Amino acid sequence: MPSVLPLGDPAPSDGLLPAQAADGAAQRGFGLYVHIPFCAVRCGYCDFNTYTATELGGGASQDAYASTAIAEVEFAAHALTASGLPDRRMGTVFFGGGTPTLLPAEDLARILTAAVNEWGLAPGAEVTTEANPDSVTPESLTLLADAGFTRVSFGMQSAVPHVLKVLDRTHTPSRVPQVVQWARDAGLSVSLDLIYGTPGESLADWRYSLETALSYEPDHISAYALIVEDGTKLAAQIRRGEVPGIDDDDHADKYEIAEELISAAGLGWYEVSNWARTPEQACRHNLAYWRGDDWWGIGPGAHSHVGGVRWWNVKHPTAYAGRLSGGVSPAAGRETLDAETRNVERVMLEARLSSGLDVSLLAKSGQHAVAGLIADGLVDPASAFRGRLVLTLKGRLLADAVVRRILPD
Ligand SMILES: C[S@@+](CC[C@H](N)C(=O)[O-])C[C@H]1O[C@@H](n2cnc3c(N)ncnc32)[C@H](O)[C@@H]1O
Ligand code: SF4
Repeated sequence: MPSVLPLGDPAPSDGLLPAQAADGAAQRGFGLYVHIPFCAVRCGYCDFNTYTATELGGGASQDAYASTAIAEVEFAAHALTASGLPDRRMGTVFFGGGTPTLLPAEDLARILTAAVNEWGLAPGAEVTTEANPDSVTPESLTLLADAGFTRVSFGMQSAVPHVLKVLDRTHTPSRVPQVVQWARDAGLSVSLDLIYGTPGESLADWRYSLETALSYEPDHISAYALIVEDGTKLAAQIRRGEVPGIDDDDHADKYEIAEELISAAGLGWYEVSNWARTPEQACRHNLAYWRGDDWWGIGPGAHSHVGGVRWWNVKHPTAYAGRLSGGVSPAAGRETLDAETRNVERVMLEARLSSGLDVSLLAKSGQHAVAGLIADGLVDPASAFRGRLVLTLKGRLLADAVVRRILPD
């Protein structure tokens, strides 16, 4: 969740949604995102809405956060019912950050229990938390599993000490196999997040990180190209020439290595940056975002989407807590997406999935562009013949360019 918020329209203080949000809701899935905006240290590359204890100052303590988040859970349940949305159980819950596991596991369990009391969990629901390798113990992971969490996503990033140092990560490589084992012992499914293209990372470093991650036999891997976000410490270091900049060709080479090694280890891609051991182990919460389902985002800066209405909360934890303690919606703004915008977003997101995009969703100009994309080796011809646009490996490397060619100017 990048930290810059859109402008949008004002959001009503009672959180009520326009009538159109309820249209067809019974046919859409419902999920919950819970943002935990705290980190022990801010990594130099990270632009997420998260705060260290020193950045936070007074006014919004980590100790009170679970109670504040629960106040938004209760506010959300009331607002959805009062807006005419049907009762729906949660198919997925995702605690992200920041570092959710910086809070005591009891606090995360309390927030989850409050949400389950309001909405209930659908059978087989997926409940994930992100975690930094140095912010969990065997006891905390067991407590989370007992509370209903099913999955943990560890920010491994790299197995190479000099790369972890440039990223400002606080864990040592040897910590990762230990926490993976603890998570398994607790009965949790395990995902590992990796970053490639860090300044100073060689191709051999990246290969080693992948081989090491795969040797832990995770159920799921996410591999993201490092983005140099404006205003971060990393951007300043690159500008001052203290560390080398990043390079698109290097990213492409590393993506190809990722695909080669991860697929050889038996995991399959289902989204450009995500691989799962079995289709059931794909992150269903992210798939629900990409397919335009409904979700409520709890926490400062969190985004929500219900039936084409999208809104986002105030960014700072103090302002967020203040709104909720006054019984007022924490939303800072909202927008109602028109049919054309929804279709464009759907094209942008579904084109990145291995299940592909229904070609009939494209305007005539986009449909005509498909033959050229096949000729350029970017789109799989057999799938296109069946009416679905599925990226080839080359297409995955150039996914943004493919999307530009199929959308109207
Ligand atoms: C925001 S973090 C939250 C989880 C946890 N705090 C951690 O760092 O693992 C989620 C993931 O976002 C990714 N991420 C954050 N900033 C990024 C950037 N500038 N470029 C690429 N990936 C980034 C990291 O890989 C991280 O694992
Ligand atoms: S620990 Fe995660 S959320 Fe926190 S600063 Fe680092 S990458 Fe960002």
